Parts: sequence; C-alpha cells; structure tokens
Amino acid sequence: MHTEILKIEEGSSAQALDKAALVIKAGGLVVFPTETVYGLGANALDSMAVACIFVAKGRPSDNPLIVHVADKEMLSLVAEKINQLEKNLIDKFWPGPLTLVLPKKKEISNIVSGGLNTVAVRMPDFKIAQDLIHKSGVPIAAPSANISGRPSSTNGEMAYGDLISKVDIILDNGDSKIGVESTVIKVTDKNILILRPGAVTKEMLEEVAGVPVIFANSAGDLESSPGTKYKHYAPNSKLEIVDGDIKDRAEVLKSEGQKVGIITTKENKNLFEKFEPNVFSLGSRNNLNEISHSVYSALRFFDTHIVDVILCESFPQEGLGVAIMDRLMRASL
Ligand code: TXA
Ligand code: MG
Repeated sequence: MHTEILKIEEGSSAQALDKAALVIKAGGLVVFPTETVYGLGANALDSMAVACIFVAKGRPSDNPLIVHVADKEMLSLVAEKINQLEKNLIDKFWPGPLTLVLPKKKEISNIVSGGLNTVAVRMPDFKIAQDLIHKSGVPIAAPSANISGRPSSTNGEMAYGDLISKVDIILDNGDSKIGVESTVIKVTDKNILILRPGAVTKEMLEEVAGVPVIFANSAGDLESSPGTKYKHYAPNSKLEIVDGDIKDRAEVLKSEGQKVGIITTKENKNLFEKFEPNVFSLGSRNNLNEISHSVYSALRFFDTHIVDVILCESFPQEGLGVAIMDRLMRASL
C-alpha cells in the first residue's frame, strides 16, 4: 500500500484534512496527531475498516480500541447509560486526555471492543484531531500509532517508521504535546478505577469524584482492561530502571564488558560523558511535563543506538510521575 505523508499545520491545512476525511469515510486508515500521542484511525462504525487497524499494528484482537469523538452528540452514537459522575467527569476533563470505559451501543462492533460490552471513549484536546473527526462525520477508533508492543509514536517520523506502507495517510504535525497516552478510567458502583494512568492524574480526578479513586492493579480489576496483559513500549535492548545510584550501576555493567545506554535528565547528564553517544536526556527532573513529552523518544533513540542494557533514572510516583513510571516499568518487563 502507498502511504501518503502530509505535513499539516493547525488552521492552515484544510486540503490535507479533507483528503484524510475522505479516506476515513471510504474505510481507509489515517494516522493523525492528538495532544497525547499519534493515533491510527478508522471509521469506528465500519467493522471492516476497524479490522484493518488490527492487521496494520499486528494487534491481538482481544485488545480493544479507544473511540474518539468530537462532541457530545457523537458520544451518544457510541455509548449509552452515562451516569451523573461520568457526566461530571466528561464536563470537567473533555476535551482532554481522559478516556472513559462506558456501556457500548450496539452500533459499535465487537471488533472495536475486543468482544466486551463496554467501549472506551475520549474527546481529544487537539484541533487537527477534532477537525478530522468533524469532517469525517463519524467517530474514529484509534489505538496509538505504533506496531503492537513498540513504544507509541509522538511525532510523524516515529509513526512513519512503524507504519509506512500499512496505512493510507500519515498527518504529520510534529511533536505531541503530552507524550504519554490518555488516562483510562472505569466508574464502578463504589469508586473510580484507573485502568491506565495518564496526564489526568488521580489527584485531579479526586477533586471531582466524591468517591475513592484507585489504581486498578488486582487481577480482577485488570481483567476489564485487556491491554494491560500485553508487552508494551519495549525498546530493542533490555531496560533497567535504577532507583539508587545510576552512575555506579553503569560503571559496574561497563566493567563487566557490557555496552551501556543511559536515559537521564538535564541535571545528571554530565555524569555520563564517557557513555556518549548512547546517552539520552529526557529534560529537567523538576518538570514532569518535559519528561513525559520525551519518554517515547528516549525508548526509540535506542533503536539506532544499539546497546546491551539501557539504564534509566526513576521518578517520584506522584501526579504525572505515575504515568511516566508506568510506561517505563512496562517497557522494562
Ligand atoms: O491517548 C490515547 O489514549 C491514545 C490516543 C491515540 O488517543 N490512544 C491509545 O490507544 O493509547 P491504545 O489502543 O494504545 O490504548 C487503549 C487502551 C488499552 O490499554 C485498552 O486495553 C484500553 O485502552 N481499553 C480500550 N477499550 C477498553 C474497554 N472497553 N475496557 C477496558 N479497557 C479498554
Ligand atoms: Mg498503545
């Protein structure tokens, strides 16, 4: 398949968006930018088109997709029985990086939901994504735009590297703002379960909730989030997250004859001169937005800087730090 790459700027790329919308309507695949990561989209109401997403990514069929909507009317095509707390969360956090798992409308096929009777929905806070959905006139099912198991794509080149000749169009708008995928939640009778941490943090949800907000980690909780059982975000080399003295650990491995790569921060980069060029700085430790923005670039940097072991600094598990550590820990499994 020929993949067309269209550079796209907010507000000045109507033609590219028109073309992409036609592809979606015709049942094709379009990679598009969102505020979190790039998505690999198809018409959510067209099961053949959605099936093509799974083929393009090599994604297991029981790992369901997120459906992207541009407004609340579109939400009513996708999900039903939305309760008051869910409505409050939608009012507060949409558009934005919060995905809710809701009872599915029958118009959404089992292919989208991986056979579950629920559907994950979000409204991206990104004009290009919203315009694409509006112009297509349908909700867009889209997982992250990467080959299954690989780090998500946070710019056009990453998506291109993984999905060239597997999709019809890649809309390239440069770097994604947030850099890690949306928070996925499920509201239950007693609480809000965070199935995947993201930029809408536990603390932010607690302000609206009025019920406990808890991270799903028991097997039972996670049964309802099939994506969590698969290998994720893996770089080509072994990744080790170091809680203590990372320089010490790097020296030990080097003395054993191992080729060591380092994922560090602006504050510590100068400690690793002798490991150059296999050193990647995520940004400042004091700015978790910078860190989340570059975490997938760091993992993909080692696609071309081949080492035996990658050592990575660890981050406090608070706020956005929970999402950052979740992705790093999964990448290290
Ligand atoms: O930020 C994001 O969420 C990005 C952009 C493109 O919007 N999308 C994304 O999609 O990260 P994906 O497919 O890589 O991750 C979707 C996650 C998976 O962990 C999946 O298991 C979970 O959402 N999920 C989807 N539908 C679900 C459902 N009905 N019940 C529970 N979990 C669900
Ligand atoms: Mg993904």
